[in-house]
Amino acid sequence: MLITGGAGMIGSTIAHLAVALGARVGILDAMLPLYGGNLVNLRGILDEIQFIEGDIRNLDLMRRVVPGYDYIFNLAGQVSYVDSNTDPLLDLDINCKGHLQVLEACRLENTQARLLFASSRFVYGRIEYNPVDENHPFNCLSIYGIHKLAGEKYYRFYQEAYGLKTVSVRIANPYGPRQQMKHSKYGILNWFVRLALMGQPLTVFGDGQQRRDYIFNEDLAEACVALMLSPGTEGRVYNLGAGTGVPFIEMAGLVAEAVPGTEVRQVEWPQDRYFVETGDYRSDLTRITAASGWRPQTTLKHGIELTVAYYREHQQDYW
Ligand SMILES: NC(=O)c1ccc[n+]([C@@H]2O[C@H](COP(=O)([O-])OP(=O)(O)OC[C@H]3O[C@@H](n4cnc5c(N)ncnc54)[C@H](O)[C@@H]3O)[C@@H](O)[C@H]2O)c1
Repeated sequence: MLITGGAGMIGSTIAHLAVALGARVGILDAMLPLYGGNLVNLRGILDEIQFIEGDIRNLDLMRRVVPGYDYIFNLAGQVSYVDSNTDPLLDLDINCKGHLQVLEACRLENTQARLLFASSRFVYGRIEYNPVDENHPFNCLSIYGIHKLAGEKYYRFYQEAYGLKTVSVRIANPYGPRQQMKHSKYGILNWFVRLALMGQPLTVFGDGQQRRDYIFNEDLAEACVALMLSPGTEGRVYNLGAGTGVPFIEMAGLVAEAVPGTEVRQVEWPQDRYFVETGDYRSDLTRITAASGWRPQTTLKHGIELTVAYYREHQQDYW
């Protein structure tokens, strides 16, 4: 299997799982500064995989790389919705054009591979009801959400027009070991872990009752593999979360519990943040469970404990 963006948090977690299952794994990652690519994430398996430093936006390279793989997991991406709004053309370049190059490369050189595309809950934007199923309207509140939706549609189009076997996952709020912690523009849970480990308070906006669906990245990796191996998932899109809506304040409390002495502070909502607040979010997992049999295994409390333990040991590699 090939994993684009495989040096990042989710891709490397899939790589560890795949190597343990005996798969032949290739990883392509552009190692762009300030993104999540980190060779430390591949510690323990580097000798068993093929690593290519390269960019999905390079069509010639992608045409040379994709042949021979049965499964291609496409995790390469610009991940920050904040940055997507301040630099929309970069987001377009990576999250749309980059993935079109992957699809073109496969159309030209490997039509047999099964392809997975990492989309996001951000395609739903402002939430109208919970739990959110895959038919929820698209009320995108960020350029990132718009481009992820376009990405899903590209993958779907290449399935219908050219017979490529594609599947997309709308990932909720992932967290866990191997996420970059250099800045706060990625998942807030991991950022809270960093703050707690540095002895700083965790700031919660408003009453902290906004609910999020935090999915441990090892559960997430298992879901991606299960979907790729399940028949009948081609051309479809699946929500991928833990299926729980946890109040923000409760998540902060669990991080504080895992790092004793951490203070949780509540402050008023800053106006600029209010604009992009989506409202409560909880994934409806009916479709993914029916298709693959996958169910999340890790409780939030345990996942946070594992995350804290990982960064206690490896923080020098992440910030
Ligand atoms: N982390 C989240 O909150 C979240 C939520 C929903 C969806 N996703 C999606 O899941 C995917 C993986 O996210 P992650 O959390 O592992 O992030 P990450 O930053 O840890 O991993 C992404 C990897 O992609 C690589 N990359 C970026 N642009 C590339 C390019 N043009 N060519 C090749 N490699 C490139 C980066 O170097 C990085 O290693 C992304 O597509 C992201 O949009 C992430």
